Amino acid sequence: METQVGIVGAGPAGLVLARLLELRGIESVVIEARSRDYVEQRVRAGVLEQRSVDCLTEAGVADRLHEEGMVHHGIELRFGGQGHRIDFTKLTGGKAITVYGQQEVVKDLIAARLASDLPLLFEVSDVAVDIDRPAVSFTHEGSAVELECDVIAGCDGFHGVCRDAITEALTVFERVYPFAWLGILAHSKPSSEELIYANHERGFALHSMRSPSVTRSYLQCSPDEDIEEWPDERIWEELNARFELDAGFSLNEGEIFEKGVTPMRSFVVEPMQHRKLFLAGDAAHIVPPTGAKGMNLAIADVELLAAALEAFYSSGDESRLASYSEDCLRRVWRVQHFSYFMTSMLHRPDGQDPFEAQLQRAQLDYVCSSEAAARSLAENYVGLDRVGLGNDFKP
Ligand code: FAD
Ligand code: PHB
Repeated sequence: METQVGIVGAGPAGLVLARLLELRGIESVVIEARSRDYVEQRVRAGVLEQRSVDCLTEAGVADRLHEEGMVHHGIELRFGGQGHRIDFTKLTGGKAITVYGQQEVVKDLIAARLASDLPLLFEVSDVAVDIDRPAVSFTHEGSAVELECDVIAGCDGFHGVCRDAITEALTVFERVYPFAWLGILAHSKPSSEELIYANHERGFALHSMRSPSVTRSYLQCSPDEDIEEWPDERIWEELNARFELDAGFSLNEGEIFEKGVTPMRSFVVEPMQHRKLFLAGDAAHIVPPTGAKGMNLAIADVELLAAALEAFYSSGDESRLASYSEDCLRRVWRVQHFSYFMTSMLHRPDGQDPFEAQLQRAQLDYVCSSEAAARSLAENYVGLDRVGLGNDFKP
């Protein structure tokens, strides 16, 4: 089998890349270890930056996103029994975010790929990449396949095989946090129009949503938390305790139909490319979810990769492929910093040092009382257009 770009992984990175290449007349084959059903049901992120929405819209895969996605113009930070709204639209000159589940984005992209009758192979196994040829080998429906290509896109997430194939060329930067998130999906009406990020002495909590009748909430927990110890009543009790307001507040409760624990880490490899293998998305970097950036960063990477491949195939210009890693890493590190900032401002590590606790409170007070500090949070949350370059500000 031969193609121009061999794409390993059908998460947001691999599927968006395949679509952008299709629109540029570049051939690709996408291979995915899991079944279609599995990747379409896997519950993960929910917040899209404006630039991600624009990318999916221009790619012609956003009809349902525009119908069902919920546009939010701000978030609430809740601490000390008070809520404080950060108004994104006012602070960023009109920008907003859209709440739309990652698995819905994935469903829309898979439907588009199949409608175009382009290769997307599920349930492949024994995947190995050969960066010298380059080629990807795997087993599909019982047969061994060799996929020869010009370029391999490693979009196979944090636990994939592509990054491991080039470890000798990589430097790893990593931070593991002493807490995790217990996430739930519930059949309940959102208790607020916007997302609520709460810093409470019992730990962090986040209230988010997927539709007018489905909510997604998270509780800070320990990385080895046993989900069996969290019956539904305990989850609602804990969420209500952490979202308390002096003026009174209680969540709309409902049947919990999905529960899971997500560990938190910050992770980057540099460079994101070695020879003809280009890493994108979680294969190259992980952010803690507090900044809602994982899926957005994956999309930003593959936008750069698609543009670089277009320059290469249309005029033989390799300069954008050569600068791919450097171009991506400017955004990756900005987003790492923002995700770390949100995580450390909002979580309460076990046995928190009282000095740290006071610094955290001072930072929360500042973000909620200084327009400059609120704007900084807002412009990062909605997503910077030109990363590393700020928003055109000249000191
Ligand atoms: P992935 O979505 O991981 O896709 C990689 C794909 O490659 C997968 O489909 C995988 O099955 C496939 N694959 C792996 N190995 C192979 C192989 N050898 N061969 C072929 N295919 C392979 N971000 C947030 O912003 N908010 C959240 O709440 C949030 N929650 C998360 C919860 C979990 C449990 C996880 C793991 C991540 C979460 N994230 C969240 C992060 C966000 O979902 C990711 O950043 C995003 O999925 C990155 O997309 P990706 O395409 O790079 O990787
Ligand atoms: C979500 O809706 O799943 C979500 C929202 C905001 C985050 C993380 C996850 O920061």
